Amino acid sequence: MISIAIDGPAGAGKSTLSRKAAERLGFIYVDTGALYRAVGLKFSESGYDGALDCDIDGVLKSTSVDIRFINGEQRVFLDGSDVSDKIRTPSASKMASAVSAKPQVRAFLLDMQRRLARENNVVMDGRDIGTVVLPDATVKIFLTASAEARAERRYKELCEKGIETDYQSVYNDMVQRDYDDSHRAAAPLKKAEDAVLADTTECDHEQSLELILKIINERTGAAD
Ligand code: DC
Repeated sequence: MISIAIDGPAGAGKSTLSRKAAERLGFIYVDTGALYRAVGLKFSESGYDGALDCDIDGVLKSTSVDIRFINGEQRVFLDGSDVSDKIRTPSASKMASAVSAKPQVRAFLLDMQRRLARENNVVMDGRDIGTVVLPDATVKIFLTASAEARAERRYKELCEKGIETDYQSVYNDMVQRDYDDSHRAAAPLKKAEDAVLADTTECDHEQSLELILKIINERTGAAD
């Protein structure tokens, strides 16, 4: 099986680019952030805030997270319900970041991610795919862009979805979340030593996709 690991900070374009790259390659696209978002939703629906002052193992025992591919598109199910749209709000992003710092949550989601890569050719994106989940991935890419460029893209995305917000709070939330994701003890966001760095600050969408496909192709020949 071929696995393409794409890691990087929030708003670097990982999900859109990974989805498009997977389409071109005929691989499945696995958005691992959605798994953490679903677990975050479970904790907020159970009445907990980001402090997560609770019996984490107890909550996880009564939690099921599942990924299904419907018409080639990943949908995420929490305790049997499709929560794919519900997990995309700014508050769900914060809660996902909070739960993702907990080693029990990371362990809870690890096997599912590895199994998907064992059974399928995948493009998998996240924060620790190249470092922890798939250390032997065929290709590792660390995708980044300046904080300003990333916040601008994320702000536009939220506006297009009709989610009310302003640029400054998107920027502040993003910088805070990157800091938290990179400074946690458990599987922090960082570039794997053998990952290729792709900086898309100056690239539009098409150019970023070409850059990624070129990196993949040079190493696998799969994007020919
Ligand atoms: O990629 P995203 O914004 O949907 O991710 C939501 C949060 O989940 C992010 O703040 C960090 C966490 N995450 C993680 O810790 N490890 C992953 N592999 C994917 C996401």
